[in-house]
Amino acid sequence: MKRKTPKLSVVGAGPGDPGLITLKAIKVLQRADVVLYDALANVEFLGYAPKSSEKIFVGKRPGLHHQQQTAINEMIVAQANKPAHVVRLKGGDPMVFGRGHEELVHAARHGISGDYVPGISSPLAVPALAGISLCSRNEQEGFWVLTGTLKDQSLTKDLILAAKSSSPLVILMGMKKLETIMKLFETYRGAHEMAAVIQNGTLPTEKRVVGRVTEIAQKVKKRGVSSPAIIVIGHTISQYLPKLDVVNAP
Ligand SMILES: C[S@@+](CC[C@H](N)C(=O)[O-])C[C@H]1O[C@@H](n2cnc3c(N)ncnc32)[C@H](O)[C@@H]1O
Repeated sequence: MKRKTPKLSVVGAGPGDPGLITLKAIKVLQRADVVLYDALANVEFLGYAPKSSEKIFVGKRPGLHHQQQTAINEMIVAQANKPAHVVRLKGGDPMVFGRGHEELVHAARHGISGDYVPGISSPLAVPALAGISLCSRNEQEGFWVLTGTLKDQSLTKDLILAAKSSSPLVILMGMKKLETIMKLFETYRGAHEMAAVIQNGTLPTEKRVVGRVTEIAQKVKKRGVSSPAIIVIGHTISQYLPKLDVVNAP
């Protein structure tokens, strides 16, 4: 029998809805010996992996990301060298604030071959499925996707550039700075600018809050909306389709 070779597949699990995974991701999961999965990857997908495969949760805890990423990188190498086919299952798309590239590079440095299966990324799917258009032809020049906070917990500098522009904006990992971000957009775009916050987008537990930048932080507190959530800012939100019932679409 041919001896297995060590392998890493970095696979996108999409934004949460169990229907929003690709066929290719399912096929790769069906060949896994080991699945290392994150907190944002829907656990239902583990059912696609063989019963005999090992499933290991490697979700991160706040404040410990660096040490944990080092441990995950080491685990990928150790598991693949068994030898085994390791599937690294990550929420959304692994290349969008997902460290997918970093893990592939680390594996390659240890002589482990890798491949990548894109996933449906939350900054695209979550607003659209909540009825918010980010980019309509002839209306917007584009849209921004930024992280709210940097590694040292400071505010992302490009938020000021985005606030000065007229394009809609999607912010990931910004909930801890929600009030500061809203103040910034009120300053540059005015009190009438619209915002939305969507927690657990695409899942039955989804929560949405929509309002002016001046009122959204208060509304979020009142509704108890927290992470993981996406913040959307832009006047296109005024054409939001609140009745778009996509969460339960087949
Ligand atoms: C580390 S980033 C990973 C993003 C992921 N790679 C992607 O492509 O969607 C995690 C952040 O993505 C956002 N996020 C991911 N999935 C989400 C969902 N279903 N609903 C709302 N926000 C989500 C949140 O801002 C969360 O804090």
